[in-house]
Amino acid sequence: MAQLLDGKIASQKILDMVREGIVTSTQFNFRKPGLAVIVVGDNPASQVYVGHKLRACESVGIFSKEYRLPASASMEEVKLAIDELNRSPNIDGILVQMPLPPHLDAIDLVTRIDPSKDVDGFTPHNLTRLLQGRTGLFPCTPLGVMRLLEMNNIAVRGKHAVILGRSLIVGRPLLAMLLDANATVTVTHSHTEHLKEICQTADILFAAIGRPGFVEGSWIKPGAVVVDVGINRVTNPSEVPYLKASEPERYSQLVNKGSLLVGDVRFGEAEKIASFITPVPGGVGPLTVAMLMSNTLHAYRTRKK
Ligand SMILES: NC(=O)c1ccc[n+]([C@@H]2O[C@H](COP(=O)([O-])OP(=O)(O)OC[C@H]3O[C@@H](n4cnc5c(N)ncnc54)[C@H](OP(=O)(O)O)[C@@H]3O)[C@@H](O)[C@H]2O)c1
Repeated sequence: MAQLLDGKIASQKILDMVREGIVTSTQFNFRKPGLAVIVVGDNPASQVYVGHKLRACESVGIFSKEYRLPASASMEEVKLAIDELNRSPNIDGILVQMPLPPHLDAIDLVTRIDPSKDVDGFTPHNLTRLLQGRTGLFPCTPLGVMRLLEMNNIAVRGKHAVILGRSLIVGRPLLAMLLDANATVTVTHSHTEHLKEICQTADILFAAIGRPGFVEGSWIKPGAVVVDVGINRVTNPSEVPYLKASEPERYSQLVNKGSLLVGDVRFGEAEKIASFITPVPGGVGPLTVAMLMSNTLHAYRTRKK
């Protein structure tokens, strides 16, 4: 049976370090670090994610502010809000919560954020620094994935890492981080041929595609490390036909409660083959928030200098 890569334990350790870092940095009456979250519209999933972020801020001592704009807000209105936060001396981190209403251009808006306050790491400035192998503010989910491996003493140097998914949030920045850590990396996407065979060659398999139970146990090389970034809410057992046989307790949970979070990997099948595996929920998810706190402290310290 695979060993669990517990994201809750790892994220608590990171949050504890951030809390201690803030106590040290704010002695002699320095102001607290500040994080601003811009939310456009009322996407229910966004409300949940923003709630997690604001609670995490409170728990470590970061001052946080939520800026709500109506779903009808124009590009100009969102840019004005970003400009105001760019100028604010009490704000060290700015993030625009995704997804945005379809009429808004997310990349254009994110590019407007002052790179020194870009705690999501999506501005061209920080993405370039990531590709150059320099320091900067980098995307939280892949940062969290790398920290989780590090904290569990899983070396990536020389290993074949396979990433499923090439999004700007996960797959692409993770590629740069893995290359920097001297892994040999294959990035796959929806046009990739022979996906199962490629996955079977992975020493470390990262799944970030957003499809419940897409990766079957037979796709995993015996002893591989499996990191499941996917978070998918399913409400109908027909969406996860494999679950009844491989995870009967979770299947009953789905039937009884009418909803369940599952990853992109069939956990019950994969845990019998892998050496290490992340659960969903409780794997990569908590680390994303912890790395956001860590990035905010980093931005604060850099700006304070
Ligand atoms: N744990 C966390 O904190 C966290 C953070 C972010 C995202 N997530 C989760 O991670 C998952 C992915 O998120 P995302 O934002 O990266 O998604 P995304 O922007 O929709 O990207 C999905 C990627 O998966 C690829 N893909 C889709 N179907 C595929 C298939 N059949 N075979 C191979 N590749 C396929 C797509 O390929 P193409 O490029 O060819 O379309 C795309 O590159 C979601 O479940 C999301 O909820 C979790």
